Amino acid sequence: MKVTVFGIGYVGLVQAAVLAEVGHDVMCIDVDEHKVENLKKGNIPIFEPGLAPLVQQNYEAGRLHFTTDAKAGIAHGTIQFIAVGTPPDEDGSADLQYVTAVARTIAEHMTDRKVVVDKSTVPVGTADKVRQVMATTLEKRGSNVPFDVVSNPEFLKEGAAVADCMRPERIVIGSDSDSKEVIEPIRELYEPFNRNHDRMIMMDIRSAELTKYAANCMLATKISFMNEMSNLAEMLGADIEKVRQGIGSDSRIGYHFIYPGCGYGGSCFPKDVQALIRTAEHIGYQPKLLQAVEQVNYQQKYKLNRLISDYFGEDLKGKTFSLWGLAFKPNTDDMREASSRVLMEQLWQAGATVQAYDPEAMHEVQRIYGQRDDLKVMDTKEAALQGADALVICTEWQSFRAPDFDIIKGALKQPVIFDGRNLFDPERLKNRGFTYYAIGRGS
Ligand code: UGA
Repeated sequence: MKVTVFGIGYVGLVQAAVLAEVGHDVMCIDVDEHKVENLKKGNIPIFEPGLAPLVQQNYEAGRLHFTTDAKAGIAHGTIQFIAVGTPPDEDGSADLQYVTAVARTIAEHMTDRKVVVDKSTVPVGTADKVRQVMATTLEKRGSNVPFDVVSNPEFLKEGAAVADCMRPERIVIGSDSDSKEVIEPIRELYEPFNRNHDRMIMMDIRSAELTKYAANCMLATKISFMNEMSNLAEMLGADIEKVRQGIGSDSRIGYHFIYPGCGYGGSCFPKDVQALIRTAEHIGYQPKLLQAVEQVNYQQKYKLNRLISDYFGEDLKGKTFSLWGLAFKPNTDDMREASSRVLMEQLWQAGATVQAYDPEAMHEVQRIYGQRDDLKVMDTKEAALQGADALVICTEWQSFRAPDFDIIKGALKQPVIFDGRNLFDPERLKNRGFTYYAIGRGS
């Protein structure tokens, strides 16, 4: 089946590669010439496990194409995915200018029936806007080529994007029409992912659009709830890790997404919680729970800094902190809204120097902050420890889970660890002579 994907970002590229892998003929369109040229040479703009070989194999097999030529892309696919970005605008609402620009371009050039699929995370009502923009553009052209708009939100996680896309838990399809001309192409597209068990959940468009936000906001709520409990646990002399196991064993609660930490980050949760708050406010509803989720997360990102200043004092001039983990979570080089950024910026403001190491995000930290005297980017986690006053952990990379504690002790000026991801057993660290601060576990 011929498919076109507008936007070669995280969602667009992974989706395109996976669709090509199961045999579809996929053309990817992006306005960024540099990105398109690089992809043709096999240079993938993001780090995502399994993605590079998938892109390369399918590109070489001629099932995956990259171009800036929108007209060619529109001629190519019966299905036209919109997977461009929806960044937050000044007030936190999702900015839809790129989505509507693609809708307009499709309507300007289409000559046969198209099913336009919103893949980007877009506020409720966006499909109506896309339909309106397309109808107006076609009318201006004096054309009556038919088209349909479908909402098909993406649920992949960074770091596991290829696997999530290959084996989706659900495929949500929002359509206001049950005509065969809309549903059949969508069924055919997802057939390879649906063989043993139908994962398609059909609903109206607005419900599909809200499903995406509701899913991310529910997950963010679980995290903020646990972070609030971790603060209480600390003050009440309880251990949040015991509490986590205690409540997770209730199958109605479950073990997923109840890990306390130094706050959630990334390109999705912070943006989507904020966008749903704005949507609610625009229609005159005060979403108190979502506002609290956001507030708790904001405060939690300062948690490690509070622990550090309680220990070392407010003035950190002359102090050096070894930082393990810059990415907002493991298996990605993405530092968008990462807790490490709040941590570093606060440490710098207090006069400290940071010696940072991350297995993937070293180029990203340099791209964001450039050269500065108070940021030393180190090649290994051991090198990042040398001569530092304490070790701070922001991301739970596997390679940080079982370090050589003698090396840590020997390299640091004092054996002090601030752990934002609860990687170690406090008792064991204490016995090894460390002063160990974690989240919600006392000290
Ligand atoms: C999230 C959702 O999990 C995906 O289902 C969704 O498709 C995606 O957003 C999106 O909208 O595109 P992602 O942002 O890649 O995926 O990352 P997550 O694995 O959800 O982690 C988000 C943040 O929550 C990370 O900073 C992580 O450290 C934090 N987190 C996660 C916790 O602090 N505790 C937990 O128990 C779980």
